[in-house]
Amino acid sequence: MRKKVTVVGAGNVGATAAQRIAERDYANVVLVDVVEGLPQGKGLDLAESGPVLDYDSDIIGTNDYAPTANSDLVIITAGIARRPGMTRDDLLKTNMGIMGAVVGEVVRNSPDSILMIVSNPLDAMVYHAHKLSGFPKERVVGMAGVLDTARMRTFIASELNVSVEDVQALVLGGHGDTMVPLVRYTTVGGIPLSTWLSQDKINAIVQRTRDGGGEIVSLLKTGSAFYAPSAAVVQMTDAILLDKKRILPAAAYLDGEYGTSGVFVGVPVILGAKGVEKVIDLELTPEEKAGFDHSVEAVNELVEAMANL
Ligand code: LAC
Repeated sequence: MRKKVTVVGAGNVGATAAQRIAERDYANVVLVDVVEGLPQGKGLDLAESGPVLDYDSDIIGTNDYAPTANSDLVIITAGIARRPGMTRDDLLKTNMGIMGAVVGEVVRNSPDSILMIVSNPLDAMVYHAHKLSGFPKERVVGMAGVLDTARMRTFIASELNVSVEDVQALVLGGHGDTMVPLVRYTTVGGIPLSTWLSQDKINAIVQRTRDGGGEIVSLLKTGSAFYAPSAAVVQMTDAILLDKKRILPAAAYLDGEYGTSGVFVGVPVILGAKGVEKVIDLELTPEEKAGFDHSVEAVNELVEAMANL
């Protein structure tokens, strides 16, 4: 039987993720949104693409959660993006509320599912979703590291004029200004990045990676990135539903790893059918550890702000 994936949020990220998953042709997709007609219209449009692109995935759109029952994986993209004049707390408060409504329905209808959180502010939303769900830590994961890493790999490949396939990168920490691109673990054709590029060039790539989401927002003006985010969602979906045991950076619950506990933040994990099957606890240099701790502090500040809202 085909796997079943629910995508909550039929905006750009959610609908494009639904499209990409349907095109993989191994899972059925339920697209959910509160806006009447939107998920139904996009779902039907995607279903009608199947005969042309040769996929048999069932895709439906819905405003209620009954059709999502017994999903293997639920991807939550619902939430608003920060608009001019909005404080961080406004965004937190609104998206916390949306997450609360969504996670309750998801847990009721798909109690054995794995939750993949995509909504921002990412690390705080994963924390909140985990708390609300009561799911074991392995079954709640956040998508950010694959996206941040993809951006870094793109910039490196373009600088060196080599295939993106041969660039491996690793980004730790929260999905935001404090993320920690780990240059020491970044290689091109298996060769450390530092042998390919000057420190100045590397610093510029690190900064551009940190600003990667903002760069797209300032170009698009009315929205944020969705092609690369949905591509990242699909890589994680493959890892989980095809039990690939991929080693990918993702927001996972730390329980002593990296000297930290009780927080969801970006670290390399083994992702398979059980969800986060292992957190890979890397040795960090004092400088890398300081960057990581700073990022964890920023995430914890958001988590504390949520508790006070
Ligand atoms: C990004 C935002 C949407 O990184 O989180 O593109």
